[in-house]
Amino acid sequence: MEQTIRNDLPQKYSKGVVVIHWITALLIITLFPLGKYMAGLEPSQKMGMIKAHAILGMIVFILTLIRSWMFFKTPRPAHLNTGSKLNDQLATGIHNIFYFLLFGLSVSGIATMLLGSYGNALISGNPTLIQNNAEILPLKGHGIMAMILMILLVMHVAGVIKHYLVKKENTLKRIS
Ligand code: HEM
Repeated sequence: MEQTIRNDLPQKYSKGVVVIHWITALLIITLFPLGKYMAGLEPSQKMGMIKAHAILGMIVFILTLIRSWMFFKTPRPAHLNTGSKLNDQLATGIHNIFYFLLFGLSVSGIATMLLGSYGNALISGNPTLIQNNAEILPLKGHGIMAMILMILLVMHVAGVIKHYLVKKENTLKRIS
């Protein structure tokens, strides 16, 4: 049976990590539907959206680099204790996989821009240069990682809600 746990909630993440966390969350929930929407359009219809998607994606990449540096260099609160070893491992595992997926999405996004001739198309203003989506290998990985990211995001939010309902602890205080 799970025992009652009291975490040290006033122990918070640093201001920088808090700001990056929420900006990244907002950008991810914008980038995913934008990416899915673009996937169904003809190249000539989506030039502006691709530019916006790439710029916002690069902001996520830069923020993830800064956040990874902060992860090792600045003090952070202890891992949450949920009272269940499996839940604890799940929460920490999801946090760590987020970092890898965000790097993977950034690298595959940049590779898609280069190998799919998106960069050339944007620079020259010629959408016909964009390759057929099915022929761009990194775009397949990009789509799969984006989908896994969304599934983990749902689990991440569900974990926060479950912890609040079961343990009566508002863990958002640590990241606000
Ligand atoms: C957290 C970051 C990101 C998320 C969540 C995301 C999400 C997505 C999604 C869901 C798609 C549609 C995939 C499909 O089903 O075919 C997509 C497409 C794409 N993404 Fe990203 N992306 C991110 C970052 C980036 C970055 C950093 C770049 C480039 C610098 C980029 C460039 C592209 C390009 C070029 C496409 C193809 C658009 C098309 O032709 O329809 N993405 N992205």
